[in-house]
Amino acid sequence: MVWDESLAVGNEIIDRQHQQLFDIATQLETLFENYTETDYDYDEIIHILVKLHLYALKHFETEEEILERIKFPGLVNHKKDHQRFVSFLDRFKAEKIEADQYQTLLDLLAFVVNWIMSHVKGTDSAYIPYLSTEVQV
Ligand SMILES: [Fe+2]
Repeated sequence: MVWDESLAVGNEIIDRQHQQLFDIATQLETLFENYTETDYDYDEIIHILVKLHLYALKHFETEEEILERIKFPGLVNHKKDHQRFVSFLDRFKAEKIEADQYQTLLDLLAFVVNWIMSHVKGTDSAYIPYLSTEVQV
């Protein structure tokens, strides 16, 4: 999963953080491509998931602060979409997953990749016009 300029929202901080999110998701994808159902692979996946979780929290906080500042009218729903992602990862971490539950991990990866892509491409693009008003102020 690759971030490119077509996904840019035009705010340097947000775009840098989005690239970082894509990078972490790519690390997950790579792990799955080489997955052999060993404990090592499983631990590594959990490790990257924790990293993704923490980074997503940090990014959402930054983004929501910016959206508040520019008075983005869709902020309430936007926050809900962020929360949906965080809750999903919370639930996943809370459930004790056995090392052989490959399908569960695969479903998780699909969710993470789809959410990040559709959120950045669709949901986030809704605030782009509001960001440009900030630049003019
Ligand atoms: Fe967002």
